[in-house]
Amino acid sequence: MEERGIRLNKFIRDAGICSRRGADRLILGGRVKVNGIPIRELGLRVIPQRDLVEVDQRPISPIKRKIYGILNKPFGVVSSLKDPEGRPCAGDLLKPLGVRVFFVGRLDFDTMGLLPFTNDGQWAQRLLHPKYHIPRTYKAIVRGDLSEEAVSTLRRGVPLSDGPTRGCKLKLLKRAEGVTEIRITIYEGRNRQVRRMFEAVGYEVIHLIRTGFGRLQLGDLKVGEYRLLEDPYL
Ligand code: URA
Repeated sequence: MEERGIRLNKFIRDAGICSRRGADRLILGGRVKVNGIPIRELGLRVIPQRDLVEVDQRPISPIKRKIYGILNKPFGVVSSLKDPEGRPCAGDLLKPLGVRVFFVGRLDFDTMGLLPFTNDGQWAQRLLHPKYHIPRTYKAIVRGDLSEEAVSTLRRGVPLSDGPTRGCKLKLLKRAEGVTEIRITIYEGRNRQVRRMFEAVGYEVIHLIRTGFGRLQLGDLKVGEYRLLEDPYL
């Protein structure tokens, strides 16, 4: 993914100097430098963490912007910024952002899909705190022909080593070639919860993708790419 950063006029606006349009006028007037070079064209992008922006010879820095986004985490990637074992990290995919953020919760190494990130601790807390029961929706493929009995047991809640699960929503999407495709929405975020729920009724999850988290939706975001949210949907 190419480094995108943010538009120079937005950087100047975020630094509290003027509006974006006012920033365009400063740029056209030759009053803005990036890394010592005078900039006169509109539309240049800068990486806030890396680039030095000056207006009228004075360095400016943006007020800390709140960042909200979602990543489509690939299979075989750790949900963290760094991994002591040197495995590929989801954080590597956010490098072009140029801003320090953290992931809101985690997905297993072998689970794909929607992984929110932010630098706003309150927002993360709101999404993760068990008392809010924020829904998490997954598409799961399980080995075998999922029985009606297993479906109703899962919907009601199953006993796990860390206590019974709350009721969940479950819809059968397809049965084909020895596997069953399901959409499942749970209202908790315990470790490996979906896999353990299916194990508890005798089935193995062979593929798991998170498609929704609260009001956040994966939509058509490509695997390994991220999208910033203008409105964090709080
Ligand atoms: N449930 C799981 O089993 N794994 C995940 O990564 C998320 C939910």
